[in-house]
Order: sequence, then C-alpha cells, then structure tokens
Amino acid sequence: MKKQHLILAIACLATLITGCKSSEKPLAGSNWHVEDGVIVVNEPHRAAGQQSMLEFYTDPIPVVRVGFVGLGMRGPGAVSRFTHMEGVEIKALCDKYPDRAHACQRYLANAGMPEAAEYSGDEGYKQLCERDDIDLVYIATNWQTHVEIALYAMEHGKHVAIEVPSATSIEDCWRLIDTSERTRKHCMMLENCVYDFFELTCLNMAQKGLFGEILHTEGAYIHNLEPFWDDYADNWRLDFNQKHGGDVYPTHGFGPCCQALNIHRGDKMEYLVSMATKSVNGLKIAKKKMGVDEFACGDHIVTLVMTKSGKSMEIQHNVFTPRPYNRLYQLTGTEGFANKYPVSGLTLRNSQIDRNALPDIPQLDEHDFVPNDVKNELLQYYKHPIHQEIEEKAKQVGGHGGMDFVMDYRLVYCLQNGLPLDQDVYDLAEWCAISELSAISHANKSMPVRFPDFTRGDWNKVKGLHFYMKGERPATKIVKN
Ligand SMILES: NC(=O)c1ccc[n+]([C@@H]2O[C@H](COP(=O)([O-])OP(=O)(O)OC[C@H]3O[C@@H](n4cnc5c(N)ncnc54)[C@H](O)[C@@H]3O)[C@@H](O)[C@H]2O)c1
Repeated sequence: MKKQHLILAIACLATLITGCKSSEKPLAGSNWHVEDGVIVVNEPHRAAGQQSMLEFYTDPIPVVRVGFVGLGMRGPGAVSRFTHMEGVEIKALCDKYPDRAHACQRYLANAGMPEAAEYSGDEGYKQLCERDDIDLVYIATNWQTHVEIALYAMEHGKHVAIEVPSATSIEDCWRLIDTSERTRKHCMMLENCVYDFFELTCLNMAQKGLFGEILHTEGAYIHNLEPFWDDYADNWRLDFNQKHGGDVYPTHGFGPCCQALNIHRGDKMEYLVSMATKSVNGLKIAKKKMGVDEFACGDHIVTLVMTKSGKSMEIQHNVFTPRPYNRLYQLTGTEGFANKYPVSGLTLRNSQIDRNALPDIPQLDEHDFVPNDVKNELLQYYKHPIHQEIEEKAKQVGGHGGMDFVMDYRLVYCLQNGLPLDQDVYDLAEWCAISELSAISHANKSMPVRFPDFTRGDWNKVKGLHFYMKGERPATKIVKN
C-alpha cells in the first residue's frame, strides 16, 4: 500500500471511530461528513483571483440605473418605491409574463419618468443583464430562479439585490459569494426586516450598550400562508415547501438577530441543531392542490444556533397553522431585554438609564416591561440615525409600514455615495444557510451541524456592524477595490 493510501485508510478509520460510534449515525451526505460527532458541510477554498467583499465599496454612482426582474406580488411595489427616489433611472422591467412587466410602466408614467424597456419569458432577464446602461439588477422572482439570474447579472457587470431568501442551498450561497468576489460586484439580499422601526432602534440601543452584553436572541417567521398559496405564480412556493425540509424562510427573523450579535463582525456562528414537527397542514394543502402524498417541510421547525463567543440564537418557522403573525425578535442581554412580538416591550435595569439625558424616566420595575410612555420615550431617544433621516418619507411611501422604502433608500444611498452596503454577501449566505443546515440536522436526528465560515477566516476582522453615511470610509479596508 502506498503511503498516501495508508494515511487515507487511517483517516477513514478514525472518522468511523470518532464520528460514527453507533451504526445508526450517518457517515456522510452528498455534501457533508461527520467530524467528532458534528456534521461538517464542505467548504470550498477561495479560488485565485477572488478577494473578500467585506467592507467593499465602489466609486460613487450618482445616478443609479436599475433593471427589475420579477414583477409578481412583490416586485411592482419596489418599482413604485424607486420612483420616489432622487438619482434613479428605471431602465428595464422584466417578468416571465409580459403583461406583468408592462403593467409596471404605470408607476413610471405617474412619476413622469420615461418608459422602460420590457423583457419577458424564462430567459428575458438575460437581455436585460446584457444591456450596458444598467448598474443594478433588482431581483424579485421566485426562490428557484434567484441565483441563476443574479449570477448572470454579476457576470455581466451588474450589482445585484435579491429578494429573500436569495439562496436556498449552501452550494448556491458559495456560488453567489464566489461570483461576487471574482467580479467585484455587490450582491445584497433585500432583507427588509432589519430596517423595521423597532428592530433598528433596538439595534441602536444594543450598540450603545443599553442591554449590556446580548447573550440570547430569538427570531421567527410565523405567518399562516393559507389564504395566499394560490397567489404564487406557477405554485412555486408550495412546490418548494413540498420538496424541501428545514427552515425554508429564515431571514426575516434571523437577520436582525445576527446584526445584534455582530455576526462575522467579531463573532461567528459555530453550529446549529434543528427539529421539525411532522407535516399535517402542509401535506393537507399539497394533497389538494398538487395531488401529492408527501410534504418535506414540517409544519413547525425550531433551530438553535451557538456562537463562537458563547451566545445562543433560536429561530422558528411556521407558515401552516392558525397563529398571529410573529417574528419574535427578542434580545436577552445581561442588563436588559427587548421583545417585539406578540407584544412589543423593553425591560431595563435602572442603572442603564442615562438620567441626565432622560430626567423624567421614573424608577423602573426590573421584572416587568417599562411603562408604555417610557418605552415610547426610549424609542424616540434611541431612534437610529437612518430613521431620523428617512422615517417620515418612508412612512409616506410605505411598503410594510415603511421599512421596504428604508431598505431601498439605503441601497441606493450607499451606491450613490460609494459606501459599503448595510448587508454584504456574507450576511446573505449566513442568513440563507439556515435552510439547508437545519434540514440536514433535522434529517439526522437533530445532530449538530457546523456553520460554514463564509468569510473564509475573516469573521473577526471587522469590529462591529456599521451603517455608513456619506463621507465615511471603513476603518478596516480588507482589500483594495
Ligand atoms: N421581503 C419581503 O417582505 C417579501 C414579501 C413578499 C415576497 N418576498 C419575496 O419576493 C420574491 C417574489 O415573491 P412574490 O410573492 O412576488 O411571488 P410571485 O409569484 O407573486 O412573483 C414572482 C414573479 O417572478 C416571475 N418570474 C418567475 N420566473 C421568472 C424569470 N425566469 N424571469 C422573470 N420573471 C420570472 C413570475 O412570473 C412572477 O411574476 C420571493 O423571493 C419572496 O420570498 C419578500
């Protein structure tokens, strides 16, 4: 036996002994293996010619020229919102169905903007991406098509913004990262919930230390989609849920929690475990609509994540049972607590209140939420600078109460001013990766699954999350533009 073969044989034996003590435990899946009782998903090396996109910025783009792809329920709202921004030109509209692309011309006409070019069909997006007068491709198609469209756009020199979840597999997360790193194009997920008013204010409070050290966070997407299943074009959403287990829609709940914990900006996620119920209501709907006898996505799924610095995170998904809408959004800190759903509230130690700045705040009961008027005063005082700047207009323009406009505004603002975007491609990957990682854990009796380090070792280089304002430059320049 050659020396390399002997080493390989010893390595395999070691894996068998350490990683697979019981014959019931799996040895490997198509893209993972077991190390010391933990499932490890393959992590590709960074290819030559790629550079980190951490803190990446380009030259300012004073007028951002946009093409929209995917104009079903979600996309037209984005077209409409973009007509309310300065320094934007809408060059192209694309949907598989031509009438959907055409229908959005009315937003442009209402705003006195010139007509945009229209594209349709499954591959109409290619012609849009091949144009040389577009800076940003804004993608609001179904989950199954996000990645191919985004890759094509980046390969054709466009920055991309992709609806949630931008990717549904680990492999696709890497494909987006690798293409973004190689083409030096922004690849941002359009996660709007991080800009919601309570979440962004709490992020500001957290960054100012109001909650002490945040030890635990909770997020969720609990939204009974029963009335909506018929509305998705070509039944793409139920079809995806029927074929895929795991938390298939994690980012609304998870994104704000990751931001509060400075994930890949000082901390990193180490591993997760996940557990799903059987499918009852999902299966019932799919039987009726699709004539199938199996349904991969459990009605309720819970995932727990552990971070390098000893923080825990919980994330839930349930789009099948009658419950009030709930994204949880809970921050548990050593000195305070924030909770958004079902009742929004704050709990703080008295020592956390700056009584010089807030002299009217009475002594607080540290076992209860602060009274409503105190909560409102605190939310006002700690309003994030982004909201101070744009909240009023955002509420007028709308989109989930305004947060959608804040998101679009920030994307355009950062491009116009040549700033790093608020969400980078590693956020995209980390928040989306929950889907496949949770499916793997659940399918293997909730075994721990190691969280891939999508930054490839750079998770501790940026110190804390920062939303850049005009004139600011990153303190740490990871690579030259
Ligand atoms: N952030 C949020 O709050 C939020 C809310 C709703 C939906 N979304 C996301 O937005 C995306 C779209 O969801 P939706 O509810 O609008 O679904 P939808 O089915 O109403 O719209 C999808 C559109 O994409 C089009 N499409 C499909 N393949 C295409 C292709 N190859 N080229 C061009 N167009 C194509 C379809 O014809 C359809 O019009 C999803 O990713 C969803 O998760 C996000």
